[in-house]
Amino acid sequence: ISNDFYPNASLPLERKESGVPYVRPGLHVESYNDFDPLRHVIVGIADNQHIPEACPASNEKIPADSPMRGSKAGRRTQESIDRANECLNGFAQILENRGIIVDRPGAVDWHDRINTPDFSISSGFGCMPPRDCLLTMGKSILMAPMSFRSRYFEYLAYTDLLREYFESDQKCMIEQAPRPRLSDDSFRMDYVAAYEYLSDEETMARSLNKEYSTKETDILFDAADVMRLGKDIFVQHGLTTNLAGIHWIKRKYEPMGYRIHTLSFADNHPIHIDATFCPLRPGLMLLNPHRPLFAGQREIFEKNDWQIVEAVKPAWDNPPPLCYSSTWLSMNTLIIDHKTVCVEASEKAQMEQFDKLGFNVIPVDLRDAYAFGGGLHCATADVWREGKCEDYFP
Ligand code: NVA
Repeated sequence: ISNDFYPNASLPLERKESGVPYVRPGLHVESYNDFDPLRHVIVGIADNQHIPEACPASNEKIPADSPMRGSKAGRRTQESIDRANECLNGFAQILENRGIIVDRPGAVDWHDRINTPDFSISSGFGCMPPRDCLLTMGKSILMAPMSFRSRYFEYLAYTDLLREYFESDQKCMIEQAPRPRLSDDSFRMDYVAAYEYLSDEETMARSLNKEYSTKETDILFDAADVMRLGKDIFVQHGLTTNLAGIHWIKRKYEPMGYRIHTLSFADNHPIHIDATFCPLRPGLMLLNPHRPLFAGQREIFEKNDWQIVEAVKPAWDNPPPLCYSSTWLSMNTLIIDHKTVCVEASEKAQMEQFDKLGFNVIPVDLRDAYAFGGGLHCATADVWREGKCEDYFP
């Protein structure tokens, strides 16, 4: 495919064309949490991103007042892509200047219609955000079984990189969760049809009853619903992760010594845990004050002397145009180590809160990339953080 659309893609063509997997001496894959010192990360790219036509899963995730409702499917404007890449490249540069290795996804042509035996959709989505697709669990990186039809082939943006990691770190493993079908049988189609007309109160009532558009037919989860805290892994049950997905995570990782916990929040669009409940350093969590934890779910933190602080109000009243996420991307940050955090540059109050909590804050201009799939945490995926698998909840 043409490189014109992919100025930021990771693997240069000559490296691909040699047919020999590239080995990077010293490359290391390992990460057990979101706060130990970051050494190697993937940062998404906006190149060639599309707005796909709505699908049963995506409809439900778009709030009733969002400009995404009814937006026209097609390639995003070049102007918006260039501006988002300016932000993402600037973010990558900040990380590189601190000695962190940064990789970027590979090029995939999202323009073509996606057809499988089970569904057909206007296009793919893009190479942002990597956090949804890749789950780094210790020395393995797993490609997640996501519920948007448009994201069915998104893992292809990472296969060349993962192949390099596999060749370069002889102890790492790359894995793929079972591929879902995403046929009409995978969704409550009547629920989806009604959804467009539901008020926020009605969607909240459904959410509190844990009624989502996805059925339990497929195994579904997005990696961004999984919060890693050493031996304890907390998974949000919601629009992007069903119970079958959580059972699969349990059955896969519990024999390896991890303990899997399910979390639910009072949130009418529970999608991805990383603008809802975020670990900041050992013993400290940041909670979205509009999305309280369900009864009994604070106990494990409180019993183990973890402090839960509420995030301050976001700087903005609305997300930017054509953005899938809420204004709470303010608390979607990238922790570099126990004392250093990257925060979106316009979120002054959030930066002040981190300052008071004892962090050095690095402001990062990223708001104009939000529409491409989220904030600073969403825009990244861990490859290596120093540190071991600790038991924070003995
Ligand atoms: N549900 C979230 C997704 C953030 C990554 C939000 O929009 O608040």
